[in-house]
Amino acid sequence: MSAFAAKYGPTALIAGGSEGVGSEYARLLAEKGLDLVLVARTAEKLEAVRAELAEAFPERRIETIATDLTTPETPAMLAQRLAAREIGLLIYNAGSNWKNGDFLDIPLDHAQALTALNVTAPTALTHHFGGLMRERGRGGIILVSSLAYLVGSPQIAVYSAAKAYSTTLAEALWFELKPHGVDVLSHAFGSVDTPFIARTFPEAYGRGADPAEVASRSLAALSSGPLLREEPGDVFAQHLAGLTRAQAVEAMHQAGNAYHD
Ligand SMILES: NC(=O)c1ccc[n+]([C@@H]2O[C@H](COP(=O)([O-])OP(=O)(O)OC[C@H]3O[C@@H](n4cnc5c(N)ncnc54)[C@H](OP(=O)(O)O)[C@@H]3O)[C@@H](O)[C@H]2O)c1
Repeated sequence: MSAFAAKYGPTALIAGGSEGVGSEYARLLAEKGLDLVLVARTAEKLEAVRAELAEAFPERRIETIATDLTTPETPAMLAQRLAAREIGLLIYNAGSNWKNGDFLDIPLDHAQALTALNVTAPTALTHHFGGLMRERGRGGIILVSSLAYLVGSPQIAVYSAAKAYSTTLAEALWFELKPHGVDVLSHAFGSVDTPFIARTFPEAYGRGADPAEVASRSLAALSSGPLLREEPGDVFAQHLAGLTRAQAVEAMHQAGNAYHD
C-alpha cells in the first residue's frame, strides 16, 4: 500500500467528481490505490467517469451518487449512505459561479444556491467526515477555493464571499485537526480550463490551467497546508496587501474584467 493510501485511504469522497479537476482527482487517487465515491448532479457524467476508471483500475471500488449538493438534505443523506465506508479523504470541489453581475441584479435564489454549495454543504460534510477522521487519528480534507477569496470581488460578490469562508474555514481546521493526524488544505484555484468554463464562459476557456496539473498540485500539497494558491495567486496577494482595501477591490475588479475580455 502506498504511503498516501495508508494516510488518506481506503476511500476518497469527491463532491463534484464527475468532470474537470474533480474527475482528475478521481483518476489520480485511483492510481494511488484509493477507492472512490463520486458525487455530482448528472448521473450520465458520473457513470462515464466510473466506467473509464473501472476499466483502467479494475481492483478499485468506485461508487457514484447523483445528487444536488445545494439540497438541504444532501449532506445527511451522504453521511447515512456512506456510514459503512471509511472515508479517509474528503475533497469538496463543486462550487462554481454561473452568473456574473451586480449583487442586486442577480436573483436571490442564485446567491442562496451559491452559499448552499460553497458554505452550507462543505461545512456539514467536513463536520461529519472530519469528525470520523479525528476519531481514527488520520485523514485529509481539501476544500477547493478561488483566488476570488482574496478580496471582495465586484460582479461575483457572493462567490468571492463564499470562497473567503471556504478558505478561512480550512485554515482554522488545519490548525485544529493537525494534532489529530488530519491534514486540511484550502486550494485556491486561478483560472482552470474545466468543462464548466467551456460551457459558461467560453471567452475565458483556453487561457486557464490544465485540470490534471491542478489536481496533482493539490494532492502534493495536502500534507503542507493550510493554503495553496495557484499562480499568479502569491504575486497578486502581495500586490493586494500593499494597497488600501478600497484599492484592492478596484484591482480585483480590473482583474475580473481582464479575465472575461
Ligand atoms: N474553473 C475555474 O476557472 C475555477 C477558478 C477558480 C476556482 N474554481 C473552483 O474550482 C471548483 C471546480 O470548478 P469547475 O469549473 O470544475 O466547475 P463546478 O461546476 O464547480 O465543478 C464541477 C463538478 O461539480 C459538480 N457540481 C456542480 N454543482 C453541483 C451541485 N449543485 N451539486 C452536486 N454537484 C455539483 C459538477 O457536476 P454536475 O454539473 O453534473 O453537478 C462537476 O462534477 C469550484 O469550486 C470552483 O469554484 C474554478
